Amino acid sequence: MNRPAGALPDDLATALAQAGNRLDRFSRQPLWYPEVDSTNDVAARLAERGADEGVIVIADRQTAGRGRLGRSWASPPEAGLYVSIVLKPVPAVASLLTMAAGVAMADGIGAATGLQPRLKWPNDLQVDGRKLAGILAEATSGYVVLGVGINVLAAAYPPDVAIRATSIETELGRQVDRGLVLAECLAAFAVRYRELERDGGSGVIAAFRTRAAWSFGRRVEWDAGARVQTGVVENVDEEGALLVRTGHQRVRVRSGEVRWL
Ligand code: BTN
Repeated sequence: MNRPAGALPDDLATALAQAGNRLDRFSRQPLWYPEVDSTNDVAARLAERGADEGVIVIADRQTAGRGRLGRSWASPPEAGLYVSIVLKPVPAVASLLTMAAGVAMADGIGAATGLQPRLKWPNDLQVDGRKLAGILAEATSGYVVLGVGINVLAAAYPPDVAIRATSIETELGRQVDRGLVLAECLAAFAVRYRELERDGGSGVIAAFRTRAAWSFGRRVEWDAGARVQTGVVENVDEEGALLVRTGHQRVRVRSGEVRWL
């Protein structure tokens, strides 16, 4: 059950105010909830009622946070940033929004804390193989709701999540200002979104390749119809597809689940 929206906590409000016009079209005050099912669902409902682009929904905890491929996203209170942004992208850029957001979150976390996450195609931010943040873009009637989950504090995650997750504070061994993380991530996304509209994606793809270069040469497998295919990752192409070498062929993998071996 969703609890009514409340006042934005001071640490978030202060950092956003300091970021000022760097937030560009994301500068309006976010809607903040102590508890929701999923911020993506709250944002989608607003979009369906005709919300303006740039509306942002943030929750302190989610009771039904979700990730890609129907997985759940553990969202304990005060441990992470659970944020959804309402976007009305021009169709040409919609397919690269997840990658633009991944690059922006990595840039923003770096600017706020010095930690430099790697990107793992298509939407993971990682440190030393552990997941730090993820992105879930969902389309709804002309809008895209861009959901971002960032693990900020060490939290009591369920055991299956705990073995593959990490947080900014765990990695740095010190406290960080989650308001600054939020503000820098939104400012970085504002820059990448404009860039995407201007150049059609070349800047986002170049930045993604830099942060994902560690994974080129790694083996992956994926389901191709009834059979499992395996190959070696070579790169990401201009449309954001993963390029995988399988014997003499180079295969473009667009969606579905890639399992990293
Ligand atoms: C993934 O890596 O699978 C994507 C995780 C996305 C989680 C965020 S938290 C805010 C927003 N609300 C949700 O229910 N999911 C996204």
